[in-house]
Amino acid sequence: MRLHVNVDHVATLRNARGTTYPDPVEAARMCLEAGAHGITAHLREDRRHIRDDDVERLRATVRSLFNLEMASTDEMIAIACRVRPDVVTLVPERREERTTEGGLEVAKASPSLRAHVDTLRAAKIKVSLFVAPELAQVEASHAIGAEQIELHTGEFAHGHGDEAVEKRELARLQAAAARGRELGLEIAAGHGLTTTNVGALVAIPELVELNIGHAVVADAVFAGLPGAVRAMLAAIDKGRAQR
Ligand code: PXP
Repeated sequence: MRLHVNVDHVATLRNARGTTYPDPVEAARMCLEAGAHGITAHLREDRRHIRDDDVERLRATVRSLFNLEMASTDEMIAIACRVRPDVVTLVPERREERTTEGGLEVAKASPSLRAHVDTLRAAKIKVSLFVAPELAQVEASHAIGAEQIELHTGEFAHGHGDEAVEKRELARLQAAAARGRELGLEIAAGHGLTTTNVGALVAIPELVELNIGHAVVADAVFAGLPGAVRAMLAAIDKGRAQR
């Protein structure tokens, strides 16, 4: 199972103060050193977290696998063709949303989605489509030429703790994964995954990749706080000692 860590929220924290730190590229380096198999970043049209320069630097430093999420727009596809990530995951995007809500509408896709998939494939960039776990979306993703689908696990994640919802959502994810694999697609999943809910999901045998961001960055805050406080106390003591 591949784990790709999404470093968007490191950029969110940086941008909140207009500083140069924490740097999502440094975070990517640490994630890979810790065993992650790849890095995911979402260049949104409003550049609210990851910026163009981050994408360039991630491409220059991530040697394993760089998955760039983006909306299916001419501007974004042109960036992908120039930067050449290993994978482009096309996602729906609305400016007013807090994070990606819902999957791509592939079954009733506009002609531009097909054209964008064609352009990426002609540039030899692997295309993954972020879709709801619905058979129509899975089949349409195959028909449009995607090599991978990323199943939206938001409903599953939000249902955690409610046994009936979890069971229902796992069954939908399982059916979508099985159909996708039957069609020859690689099956990824992501959204809302945590150390608490991921265990049940990975029982789906067709899954080969997870994209996880928020929970990893959130857990890192708590895992890292004691060391950060000790480092600050040491810096204060050092300054005092040099008076
Ligand atoms: N996969 C896709 C396509 C996403 O858009 C996101 C959110 O940016 C994720 C995975 C990661 O979701 P989370 O931050 O909830 O782990």
